[in-house]
Amino acid sequence: MTTHTIALSGGTHLPTIALGTWPMDDAEARRVVASAIELGYRHFDTAENYENERGVGDGLRDSGIDRADIWVTTKFNRRWHAAPAEGLKGNLQRLGLDYVDLALIHWPNPDQDRYVQAWEGLIELRAQGLARAIGTSNFTPAHLTRLIDATGVAPEVNQLELHPYFDRPAERAFHAAHGIVTEAWSPLGRGNGLLDEPLVTGLAGRLGVTPAQVILAWDVVQGIVTIPKSSDPGRLAQNLDVFDVGLTDADVAALSALTASGIEPVDPERFGH
Ligand SMILES: NC(=O)c1ccc[n+]([C@@H]2O[C@H](COP(=O)([O-])OP(=O)(O)OC[C@H]3O[C@@H](n4cnc5c(N)ncnc54)[C@H](OP(=O)(O)O)[C@@H]3O)[C@@H](O)[C@H]2O)c1
Repeated sequence: MTTHTIALSGGTHLPTIALGTWPMDDAEARRVVASAIELGYRHFDTAENYENERGVGDGLRDSGIDRADIWVTTKFNRRWHAAPAEGLKGNLQRLGLDYVDLALIHWPNPDQDRYVQAWEGLIELRAQGLARAIGTSNFTPAHLTRLIDATGVAPEVNQLELHPYFDRPAERAFHAAHGIVTEAWSPLGRGNGLLDEPLVTGLAGRLGVTPAQVILAWDVVQGIVTIPKSSDPGRLAQNLDVFDVGLTDADVAALSALTASGIEPVDPERFGH
């Protein structure tokens, strides 16, 4: 099976589809990660806040796969912005790994105003080889601009909520202009009705795929890295099989134009672990 990847500005290659592991606990993460590897997953998304890094690490080891063939992304919480080396050390200890492939600042937490310090720390940790790539999560263009102005170094990735109900054109344009790869969290809308949307079910019927495959194909054809969570073997397999769905440019545009009333995206100015 081919692992599709996207080149990051630091020179590594990020697998385009990850298994999202929230809200799995350690036991579930261990089981699902190992079975996902058998299905062909090579990229796993976890975080200190998910409290499942031990299970993710155990699942990787249970699978018997070479460490070098796996991409592990994790994130640390707000308390480590002033001590990022300690934060990442905790991630590594819980995962049982010597390095991660991608370390992210989970939220900007502007109320404590230490995210530039966290970013300076990640730049150093990448130089030390403890993270092969570094980035951010839930950062707005204003937050990213501050990082770039302060350090001259742009994140390699920004992971943010993104799906056809909330397709973030301004953020994506900013990322593209600065060589930042966009990663979509809650790509399937996390139960907000997106998978029952008539446009989505209609396209699924026309193309002979599932509604989830339509949405994940919308990500990958646009160069967006996507991290759907599933614990079900059948859905895990279908979520990886989205590279030949056959969406046209018009289909992509129609999906991008979807909006829904009552969807409240998370505001990174006010929320964060
Ligand atoms: N950076 C951040 O702040 C942040 C925030 C939230 C999430 N995340 C990351 O993003 C990942 C994904 O987000 P999410 O879990 O919120 O939402 P999601 O991936 O959009 O949706 C997950 C839900 O969709 C179901 N599902 C999965 N595949 C399906 C399919 N093919 N057909 C129908 N239903 C399907 C899953 O159920 P089953 O398991 O039963 O299949 C689960 O209930 C998380 O696991 C986490 O790693 C990051």
